[in-house]
Amino acid sequence: MDFHILNISDTHGGNRHGLMSPDTVLTTEGAEGKPFTFTPEMTPYQEWMWQDVYLWGIEQAIKMTAGRPVIVIHAGDVTHGNRFTESLVSSRMSHQIAIAVRALAELNRVKPVRFFLVHGTDVHVFGEGTAEEEVAERLRGVMGCEVAATPFGLLDIGGVKVDIAHHGPGPGVGWLQGNTARNYAKQHMMDEIFKLHRLPPDIYIRGHNHAYRYERVELDDGIVSHLILCPSFCSMNGYARAVTRSIPWITNGMVLIDIQGGMVTDVHPLTKTIDIREHFKVTI
Ligand SMILES: [Fe+2]
Repeated sequence: MDFHILNISDTHGGNRHGLMSPDTVLTTEGAEGKPFTFTPEMTPYQEWMWQDVYLWGIEQAIKMTAGRPVIVIHAGDVTHGNRFTESLVSSRMSHQIAIAVRALAELNRVKPVRFFLVHGTDVHVFGEGTAEEEVAERLRGVMGCEVAATPFGLLDIGGVKVDIAHHGPGPGVGWLQGNTARNYAKQHMMDEIFKLHRLPPDIYIRGHNHAYRYERVELDDGIVSHLILCPSFCSMNGYARAVTRSIPWITNGMVLIDIQGGMVTDVHPLTKTIDIREHFKVTI
């Protein structure tokens, strides 16, 4: 069976660092008790992310999938939530949901056959997967396919097993990130074999770290799983600079997985990586 998985994650709708469409329309109170609609202003980074990363990625995905079935998996944090109030477009839950729905509706262009949303971190999604559940409900009227939200899912797509969750391996330190990711996948594969007495999933999809990582893990007896740590559609803020210990670059985008004959045959990062430092030329 041949198909594709298009993986997106951590879009953080409602934050000025997150993914937002220039066609977003929000409603608030206007004069004389009348509702007032407005389009929030985008930051230059949001414009770049929308045009050069997201729409570019969608175009690439349309070409590369060439009419084969596409399953979209959003690995969580569709909104930013209102626990952390810095840089919010709006702290109103309905506005954040509207921003997320408008942005993700663009994925209808890849003509998905199924659409899954994994619950993100509680503080970013108004607790207990509320944002993903709400966005899924709204997208049901937009996408030409079934849309489901889940805290933690195991998909069986024509015999190909895909384990989908938001939280995955720890971020690790630079040169250890691959080891951290591989050890995480190995532990989960062995848990599946020894605790649940069955073959591990073919693919593990995770978000949360706002970083891209792909690892193919083969156990001694030839059992193989693929771990995809999906990058974000979110720029760097002060918090991210602190937890990454000032990584000078950021990768944004999606990941397209090719599955042919029930096997993962290719993993394409539809991503862009940029230097995020402000460059100063000092002449003395
Ligand atoms: Fe996130």
